[in-house]
Amino acid sequence: MLLTTIRVARTPIEAMTKYRARYGDPFFLPMGNGPIVATAQPALIKELFANRDTSLYGSFGFESTRALVGDHSVLMMDGVEHKRERKLLNPHFRGERMRAYGEVMIEATREAFATLSVGEEFVAIERTTELSLEAIVRAVFGFSTREEITVVQRAVMATLRAAKPYLLFSPKTQIAPFGLGPWATFQKHSKALDDLLYAHIEKTRASPDGREDILAMLVGARYDDGSAMSDNDIRDELRTLLIAGHETTAVSLAWTLYALHRHPEVLARARAEVDELGENPAPETLARLSYLGAVIDETLRRYPVVDVAFRKLLRPVSFAGYELPAGVTVCPAIVLVHQDPTIYPDPARFDPERFLGKKPRPHEYLPFGGGNRRCIGAAFSLYESRLALATLLREFELELLDTDELPPVRKNIVLAPKGGVRMRLRARR
Ligand code: HEM
Repeated sequence: MLLTTIRVARTPIEAMTKYRARYGDPFFLPMGNGPIVATAQPALIKELFANRDTSLYGSFGFESTRALVGDHSVLMMDGVEHKRERKLLNPHFRGERMRAYGEVMIEATREAFATLSVGEEFVAIERTTELSLEAIVRAVFGFSTREEITVVQRAVMATLRAAKPYLLFSPKTQIAPFGLGPWATFQKHSKALDDLLYAHIEKTRASPDGREDILAMLVGARYDDGSAMSDNDIRDELRTLLIAGHETTAVSLAWTLYALHRHPEVLARARAEVDELGENPAPETLARLSYLGAVIDETLRRYPVVDVAFRKLLRPVSFAGYELPAGVTVCPAIVLVHQDPTIYPDPARFDPERFLGKKPRPHEYLPFGGGNRRCIGAAFSLYESRLALATLLREFELELLDTDELPPVRKNIVLAPKGGVRMRLRARR
C-alpha cells in the first residue's frame, strides 16, 4: 500500500500505465486514503458518469480537506445536498455569465507580466499563478482597488502555504500541542482569511445592488425551497472557489506556454490568428479564436492538470463484472485515457489539429471530469485561458529556456511542469 501510494502520488502516469499493463483494466490500487479501482476504458467511464443516482457516490474531497474548504463546500457534499448545491452554483458559471469577467481577466494578465523588463528571465508558473489568483479574486468579489485585491490574495496564499500536504492527508496530523506547530499556524491564517470573507459577506448583504460578482450572486441566490445561503455556507463556497479556481488554471496556462513555445509552427499559427484581429478586440472575440481554443484543448489532453476523478461508493455496486463494496473509490484515469493511441494516434505528439472544429466525446476527453461532479469552473477556466493567452501573444514575445521535455510533478493535488517552466521576455509588441 505504501509503495503504491508513493508511486501513484509522485508519478501517476508511469505508475498507472505499469499497473494497467500488468493487471488489466480495471485495476486495483491499494492507497493510503482507501482502496481505488481505476479504469481508462471509455465505455466504463461513460457508465460511471452517466449514473446520476444521488445515493451512489460520496464527496469528492477526503475528510482531511474539510479543514481547507469547510463542511458546506460543494466538494465535500454528497447525495441530494450536493445536487441542490450544484443547482444553485451552476448558473453563475455558465458560458454566457463569463462575459462579466472578461476585462478583469485581460487586465490581470497584463499586470502579471507588466513588471518584466526585456531580457528578464522568469518562471512561468509564478506569473500565471499571479494572474489567475487576481482573476478569481476580482471575479468573486468585484473589487477594483489594488489594496482590497492584495489583502485577499495575501490571505489566500498564506492559508495555502500553511496547508502542508500532510495536514490535509490525515486528520490525525491536525493537532496543535500547547497551541503551537504547523496546525496552529494553519488555523491562524485560516481564521484571518475567514475574518476577511465574513466582513465582505456582511458588506455585500448591506448593499448587493448593481454588482455582477460571484459573491453578490451567492448572497442573492435561492434554493428551490426559497431559502438563502447562510454566511457560513457562503464562506465555505468562497474558500472552495478561491482555492479550486486558481492553481488549476495557473498550472494549465504554464503548460500551454511551454507547449506553444516548444512548437514554433503552432506558436506562429496561433499568433497569426490573434494578429488578424486589429486594435482592441473585445474579450468575446478573443474567446472565440478557434486555433487558440484548440491549442488549449490539446494542452489539457497532452498535459492534464488533474490525473484522476474520484467516485467513492456509498453502497455496493456491480462494476465491469466485479462486485465492489461500499468505501471503494472508482477512478476514471484521466491521464491514461488522454494517452490512449486508439483514441489519439501518436498520443505523445502535441497537435492542436486534433481538436480543430471537432468536439471530443466526453468519456474520451475529460480534463474537467464528468457527470454530476464535472468541474463547475470549466467554462470560467477555459475563458480565462483563452483571454490570457491571446493577450500574451498580442503584447509580448516570450522565449522558452526549458527546452528539454519537462516531466509532470505533483504540486498539491495537481500535476505541474517540473520547475514551473523557465522563460525570458524577448520583446514587447
Ligand atoms: C484547468 C483548470 C481546471 C481543471 C483541469 C479542473 C479540473 C477539475 C476536475 C477533474 C474536477 C473533478 C470532476 C469530477 O470528479 O468529475 C473538478 C472539480 C471542481 N472544480 Fe475544477 N478544474 C479547473 C478549474 C476550476 C476553476 C477555475 C474552478 C472555480 C472557479 C473550479 C471549481 C471546481 C469545483 C467547485 C469542483 C467540484 C465539483 C463537484 O464536486 O461537484 N475548477 N475540477
